[in-house]
Amino acid sequence: MTDQIRRQLPIVGVAKVSHGRDRMTCLYRCGNACDHAVPNGSDNQYFGDLVKNEVTRRGVLRTGAVAGVALGLGGAGVLSATPAFAATEPPPALPLVEDFSAMTEQTTNLTFKAVAPNRVDALVVPNGYDHSVVIRWGDPVVPGAPEFDVRNQSLAAQLKQFGYNNDFVAVLPLDKKANRALLVCNHEYTNEDLMFPNFVSQDALTVEQIKIAIAAHGMSVVEIERVGKTGQYVLVKSGSRPYNRRLTALQTHFRLTGPAAGTALLKTAADPTGTDVIGTMNNCAGGVTPWGTILSGEENFNQYFVGAETSTGDAKARFNRYGIDTVNRYPSGSRKWERADERFDLTKNPNEANRFGWVVEFDPFTPGSTPRKHTAMGRLKHEGANIIKSRDAKAVAYMGDDERFDYLYKFVSDKKVDGRNTPEARKHNLTVLESGTLYVAKLGYTSATEIDGSGKLPTDGAFNGTGTWIPLVKGGASMVDGMTVDEVLVFTRLAGDKVGATKMDRPEDVEPNLVNRKIYAALTNNTNRGVGSNPAADEANPRNANKHGHILEITEDNDDHTGTTFTWRVPFVCGDPTDPATYFMGYDKTKVSPISCPDNVAFDGAGNLWISTDGNALGSNDGLFATPLEGPEAGHLKQFLSVPYGAETCGPWITDDNKSVFVAVQHPGEISGASVANPASNWPDGDFAKPGIAVTWSVWNKNIGA
Ligand code: FEO
Ligand code: CA
Ligand code: CA
Repeated sequence: MTDQIRRQLPIVGVAKVSHGRDRMTCLYRCGNACDHAVPNGSDNQYFGDLVKNEVTRRGVLRTGAVAGVALGLGGAGVLSATPAFAATEPPPALPLVEDFSAMTEQTTNLTFKAVAPNRVDALVVPNGYDHSVVIRWGDPVVPGAPEFDVRNQSLAAQLKQFGYNNDFVAVLPLDKKANRALLVCNHEYTNEDLMFPNFVSQDALTVEQIKIAIAAHGMSVVEIERVGKTGQYVLVKSGSRPYNRRLTALQTHFRLTGPAAGTALLKTAADPTGTDVIGTMNNCAGGVTPWGTILSGEENFNQYFVGAETSTGDAKARFNRYGIDTVNRYPSGSRKWERADERFDLTKNPNEANRFGWVVEFDPFTPGSTPRKHTAMGRLKHEGANIIKSRDAKAVAYMGDDERFDYLYKFVSDKKVDGRNTPEARKHNLTVLESGTLYVAKLGYTSATEIDGSGKLPTDGAFNGTGTWIPLVKGGASMVDGMTVDEVLVFTRLAGDKVGATKMDRPEDVEPNLVNRKIYAALTNNTNRGVGSNPAADEANPRNANKHGHILEITEDNDDHTGTTFTWRVPFVCGDPTDPATYFMGYDKTKVSPISCPDNVAFDGAGNLWISTDGNALGSNDGLFATPLEGPEAGHLKQFLSVPYGAETCGPWITDDNKSVFVAVQHPGEISGASVANPASNWPDGDFAKPGIAVTWSVWNKNIGA
């Protein structure tokens, strides 16, 4: 218990917005998205006959399928341009990734005693567990990087050091027992108030400071190693560490692949090929592919661009649909990246914003590999992407667009995944996400007339229904009337509007459970649901002014993840269990933990659902929760840990041996009024010399994973 008990908090400001996040987080993380008008102004409410709609779409397919399949060639180029595997040993981890789906015989009993809701400035885990920090902002990543010094920051240092805030976390074993592993993290966003001593305003930052912030976005890969036979991991700090790497928003080149790559909508003056993008940004959640690469979602990219207020017509409508500010609403609060790089000024580079909002695929096992952005998977505020292999070995990725009243998507690859662990298979698999069918979800309901927005269960005892995946691009052809393939992939939100997709309450992480093969989506919250002229509650989003969010479970018909029909239910309606509007799979609500704002989901080897939260609207610190999904304990949700004051719980990652849980403690102490000199959180050191933007681990005791 290295930092379990700390003093109660210095309260620097109480500026929570209605859904539980602090104003400062709203500003820096998503550009005050909640203050803007809902970007989805489409009138595509549920209009009834799903079967009829599907027949209509199939009709479009027949007429539209004359176009050839546009297979991207970028992947092959990437492979030939880089050594197949530059390290001294062969790619080690592919079978280990697959092994996870084979661990169905485990029985993981969640026997830990739940952590109580709290507001302490500490990471709190159940009795019998321990935790420590693995890495945090500024720690050296690339060999030769300097040690961090908050008062002596430089761009040269940040380019080699661990980036700021983390959301996605993955741990990829480098050997069978995972004694060594690669830790891969997203650096979602920066908070300059808390990065720079003597911060005054974005306008007062030096250009180098802005570049430091840009460089602190992106991703990191670091080698970690197990301490003895425990579940503790520490950074490998010596040796060549060939995999250690920073991807940044400032310098790293990404190759666009797929049908829209190279098309006019993606060309800029600096990149007339429309295929070569500098940087990735606002990377939120992500996933690991069956072939051992990382997927990362570019989420709130909109906030980094200025100049859209001069746009008109279609261009303005497109900017608005993506939440790009067209009224210069926050001139003093915007990120000012255009001061360091004019590509963030849309008056000069109107297409630059089109080059963000993609799913990034990155091969951490090939040092120097070129990461790619897959246009075939559509452009939205991608929370993340997670893959399950269909029974016929296609890669099926599930994805959420994190915005109030936006949509759920899935992508089905044209090619099959090659399950062999050979260089040829690897080369092939790296092209799998470059072509396929992109779908958006439309949900139908069993109890539509009984939903009153209070969260009251309908008489059939379930929020449930059927659903259809509506194709947007298939066989290389657009399935959307009036939109080309390029337009559908670059302005995917508008395509979803046109086909009548179902407006959801902020779809965040969407992940397949590889044990029961069902899909789970975190719907974080939507305080606008049923408010004003916004759409009212429906059975899949059953509460108006939904402060606490819910979980959606999707079951593909006939276990066919390539198919177009499914059933769904809402197993959890979050909140204080004493609130009659909550639901925990019908489990005794006196025994479950309060939970608010589910964000990331993960599964252990037994298929138990783990949920991390972002923005607890019940007033407690965010946390990580776990629940069985099957058997008599299904719905017995318990809090496994809580993160320090002001932080959001991200990751999580449960190792295959069930010995360790990795979480990203994102933005501790991010409370309005806080600064380097006046921190709102002193975790984990008790001072703020090295702000605790960190990844931590927790050890499972033997009984839990047994
Ligand atoms: Fe970055 Fe949707 O949270
Ligand atoms: Ca129902
Ligand atoms: Ca998230």
